[in-house]
Amino acid sequence: MSSSSDSNSDLPLKPIPGGYGLPFIGAVWDRFEFFYVKGRDDFFRSRMLKHKSTVFRANMPPGPFISPNPRVIALLDAVSFPVLFDNSKVEKRDVFTGTFKPSAGFTNGYRVCNYLDPSEPKHHQIKSFLLALIALRKDHVIPLLRNYLTELFVKVEDQVADHGEVYFNPISQNELFKFLFHLYCGKAPGQTKLKSDGLKLFQFWVFAQVLPLGSLGLPWYLFPLNVLEDLLFHTLPLPSFLLKWDLNKLYSAVETSATEAFDLASTFGLSNDEACMNLLFVLGFNSCNGMKIVVPTLMKWVGLAGKILHQKIADEVRSVIKEEGGVTLTALEKMPLVRSVVWESLRIEPPVAYQYATAKEDIVVRSHDAAFLVKKGEMLLGFQPFATKDERVFKDAERFVEDRFLGEEGEKLLKYVYWSNGQETEKPAAANKQCAGKDLVELVLRVFMVELFLRYDSFTVKLGKPTVQGPTVTITSFVKASNFDFCSWSTTHFNMVPNPELWHKNWENFT
Ligand code: HEM
Repeated sequence: MSSSSDSNSDLPLKPIPGGYGLPFIGAVWDRFEFFYVKGRDDFFRSRMLKHKSTVFRANMPPGPFISPNPRVIALLDAVSFPVLFDNSKVEKRDVFTGTFKPSAGFTNGYRVCNYLDPSEPKHHQIKSFLLALIALRKDHVIPLLRNYLTELFVKVEDQVADHGEVYFNPISQNELFKFLFHLYCGKAPGQTKLKSDGLKLFQFWVFAQVLPLGSLGLPWYLFPLNVLEDLLFHTLPLPSFLLKWDLNKLYSAVETSATEAFDLASTFGLSNDEACMNLLFVLGFNSCNGMKIVVPTLMKWVGLAGKILHQKIADEVRSVIKEEGGVTLTALEKMPLVRSVVWESLRIEPPVAYQYATAKEDIVVRSHDAAFLVKKGEMLLGFQPFATKDERVFKDAERFVEDRFLGEEGEKLLKYVYWSNGQETEKPAAANKQCAGKDLVELVLRVFMVELFLRYDSFTVKLGKPTVQGPTVTITSFVKASNFDFCSWSTTHFNMVPNPELWHKNWENFT
């Protein structure tokens, strides 16, 4: 038996509170509570209060008939959560989507990287390829992204001018999708057979796979509509053949574009077919799906923070960019406030709420207050929105504190930022399950902040009803940059052929 580290080993061993109820009925009841009676956060909060414990047993949706076993042990605090990252104690085989796995038909029969455990040789092979691909593309990230962000801001500004406000999510999704496709595949999606349909096709394909995990959120009093929805969404998975045409079209676009990536994949012993399917998955599921959450989330929190923070960020961004002569990795390294703001948005509203793993052996998991014996084969579920808002680690955890991660004390908190399925202080590797795009995602968010505050002094937002895809953000006004002439600066610095030395030189330090 082994035990989780980073915690007090003298804690008393207690039985894990909670339970699963009667077979079948218990799981269906928990699903109803989760989707229709309490909602996600109250489902966890009410049980945490009832059991007076941040570790307890519960069933997780979708349950019958989709999940072979919906029983989990939920981890809700910052101390117990990292056991999910410890590959010596837990296994991550086929748990990417939780207590069920979508049909392999969605991935042409392949088990793609996300479903593989690091103990499987295939995981090492594919993850090494993906990490190498990102390293190979690193020099393209900033200039390519800035091109697409220019399109994004032009569209946003036009709509604010025409309609007084703009729904930010779809525009950002679209431009970031084009950026990501271009980055991995070497050309814009519009230059392939996908034309302008790429994002839509990817969204259908992802949606069909995760349908059993979502809900329209119909409240209990809309009975029996919610029962009908439950039967439709949560009792049987969508068959993959319905999306075959969609998948084939996406596959063909990636296959005919990403030739450089396939050459790289072959050096890791991967066939073009397997590399293509993994690239397609990373592009559609991980990258686009993730970006469509993290960018609006950042806009939300920075927008709500208001003018004083906007002024501070603009000052930092503009003075560093002037000093460095351009948007480079070196320049980004000199913007501690931007970096802290990005981490804070990933902490306060982590983009992926759930992480799952199965105990490889009998293990002891420790929370702040107690130790619990988890038996071999039991499934652990980390609910991240509570773990990274753990008041015993983060002061004012529910508040967006822009400078939380500044200075020595701030840096000490980074190990409790878990958005990437690993501690922020760790690096993704072939031997772990940390997000292969960790550094890329943070780079994108930092460049996004830079572009925003080079153009504008301030902006305001209003929020719509949040969805499983994160916040919905409408921009209601912009104040153009007053003390920075973006137009004349950009003609000299933006469209020029980038100086490789300027923006190559600090990648190693950056990552
Ligand atoms: C944009 C926001 C993104 C978010 C929020 C995100 C989040 C995550 C999370 C939470 C996991 C772990 C899932 C689990 O096993 O429980 C993961 C895994 C992974 N992510 Fe990301 N990701 C993002 C972008 C990217 C990008 C741009 C890439 C590009 C390479 C990427 C590639 C991967 C891969 C390959 C894995 C599986 C790692 C492994 O099996 O070892 N992700 N990501």
